[in-house]
Amino acid sequence: MHIFRGVAAFLAASHSVAAAASTAEQQQQASPSSAPEAPGEKLPPYRHPKYHPSPKRASAVKQAFRISWDGYYKHAFPHDSLRPATNGFADDRNGWGASAVDAFSTALIMGEYRIVDQILKYVPEINFNRTNSEVSLFETTIRYLGGLLSAYDLITGPLKPHFNYTDHQTGAILQQAKRLADNLKVAFNTPSGIPDNDLFFGPPRKKGSKSNGLATAGTLVLEWTRLSDLTGDSQYEKLAQKAEKYLLHPRPALGEPFPGLLGASVNLETGLFENGAGGWGGGTDSFYEYLIKMYLYDSTKFGEYRDRWVLAADSSIRYLISHPATRPDLTFLAMWRDRTLHYFSEHLACFNGGNFILGGLTLDEPAYLRFGLELVAGCHATYTSTLTGIGPEIFQWQDSRTPLNSSNNPGPPADQKKLYERAGFWITNGGYQLRPEVIESYYYAYRATGDKKYQEWAWEAFVAINATCRVGSGYSSLADVNKQEGGGWTDFQESFWFAEVMKYAYLIFAEDAPWQIRADHENQFVFNTEAHPIRIAGGKERYGGWGKGKGEGKGMEK
Ligand SMILES: *[C@@H]1O[C@H](CO)[C@@H](O)[C@H](O)[C@H]1NC(C)=O
Ligand SMILES: *[C@@H]1O[C@H](CO)[C@@H](O)[C@H](O)[C@H]1NC(C)=O
Ligand SMILES: *[C@@H]1O[C@H](CO)[C@@H](O)[C@H](O)[C@H]1NC(C)=O
Ligand SMILES: *[C@@H]1O[C@H](CO)[C@@H](O)[C@H](O)[C@H]1NC(C)=O
Repeated sequence: MHIFRGVAAFLAASHSVAAAASTAEQQQQASPSSAPEAPGEKLPPYRHPKYHPSPKRASAVKQAFRISWDGYYKHAFPHDSLRPATNGFADDRNGWGASAVDAFSTALIMGEYRIVDQILKYVPEINFNRTNSEVSLFETTIRYLGGLLSAYDLITGPLKPHFNYTDHQTGAILQQAKRLADNLKVAFNTPSGIPDNDLFFGPPRKKGSKSNGLATAGTLVLEWTRLSDLTGDSQYEKLAQKAEKYLLHPRPALGEPFPGLLGASVNLETGLFENGAGGWGGGTDSFYEYLIKMYLYDSTKFGEYRDRWVLAADSSIRYLISHPATRPDLTFLAMWRDRTLHYFSEHLACFNGGNFILGGLTLDEPAYLRFGLELVAGCHATYTSTLTGIGPEIFQWQDSRTPLNSSNNPGPPADQKKLYERAGFWITNGGYQLRPEVIESYYYAYRATGDKKYQEWAWEAFVAINATCRVGSGYSSLADVNKQEGGGWTDFQESFWFAEVMKYAYLIFAEDAPWQIRADHENQFVFNTEAHPIRIAGGKERYGGWGKGKGEGKGMEK
């Protein structure tokens, strides 16, 4: 789940600066690293990894899920989020019961049918026409729309035999998804067709923002396309795909400082990019994520999305790869402002390892898979190096290939020199908001390789989170992962705790199932950025490889 925060200041600071980089910065512009691995290279037989389910560990994760659900249901339902330390609640997502909708697909996958019944009964009662607060098109799409579509896909698909629900009951889930989208669709009514992310309801109307972010504009197309495929009403996919066109064909040049790697904001009137600052972190991240996921969703329609993902992935390997000067064994991806790199990253960006792995599996490209595994190991180090065993919100390092006196390569503050020497990063924001991305990438690494190491890493992360975040009626965000007891609880249980952390932690230990990621081109589901599994168009992955002239099926054993 990927939202504006953390790096927002970095992305915003270069708003409309065009190419106004300082002379010093221009001298330190990114130069390509040694060429990425040649395509076609062989890796171990990843097509049919052997998996090692662990019922005991899976059931420990389910226990955590039940504890937090019961706490939420007792003290916060049908509000959005639980404040576990004080048994309070918050309506941070428009008061439609965000935690209930976000928990839906996880409860289904875990077979927690008591909880499924509670949520299913509630869904038809949500009044999506009304809310007292501003509506984010992006957040509403990934959490509510994604959660409803996923539950519908699971209940009417592989879980159908497990339920006795009437068509009327299951149909209500899809009807609510459609009702919500019908209220949201006013967002696309802009001169360019790129949506205004900021809305009010009652009646639905735009706030009147002038621009939208790359992630908020570019993380809609999976859910809106699925809604059209399920309802047979093409208006939703048309809106989202029209908006996405501007992101697939970015203009002007400042909006694409490296091939496939873009700026952070687009103008709603002109569709033109307003800057060239970006990264794989919050605010821009899930745009890249969805490029390859759209291709997995429907390879007959989204070849262009694949091509743009390949460009972005190749540029990342070529330009953004960075190793800390004190720990050259670790690999992170730098941020960029125009063509100048900045060496910091964040928990949100740690989905990137999993996304490269998924790209490698989908396109039969071992180089992406291997690079993804390197990124996964880097993010693992951010967990193992802190006092709590949980990774920080934002971290920084000094690039090993850039002069240590460069203005874009500063060193650590005095009180973190020791941490940096040992760990290869220092902490610029030590919070933990119950984010999933590191465990998410362990999950992809495990499903691609079958390597038990990734299950161990996930278990260590789960045990650390379970030990440090558990308080009162649920699990809480933390103030500082590098202090005793996480620096204290900040008393908030995000809805994506249910949708993502609990789901990925469970799936890595669970038995094989139709919704599990597969390494053999037999996927039936693709996970949206909130970890809601969406059924692939036609019910099953259609293997297309690279398509046009790139050669198919090379490199990986079938
Ligand atoms: C929401 O608005 C739509 C369109 O005006 C209407 O058909 C529907 O009945 C409303 N639903 C509720 C729960 O008020
Ligand atoms: C399904 O419904 C029928 C009729 O109401 C009932 O006899 C049966 O036990 C139910 N099955 C399950 C699995 O709930
Ligand atoms: C960095 O150090 C090198 C070597 O001492 C020197 O030549 C260069 O001018 C310095 N650059 C800056 C930006 O201070
Ligand atoms: C998770 O926390 C709960 C509650 O504190 C505890 O009972 C359980 O043993 C913990 N699970 C693991 C695997 O550490």
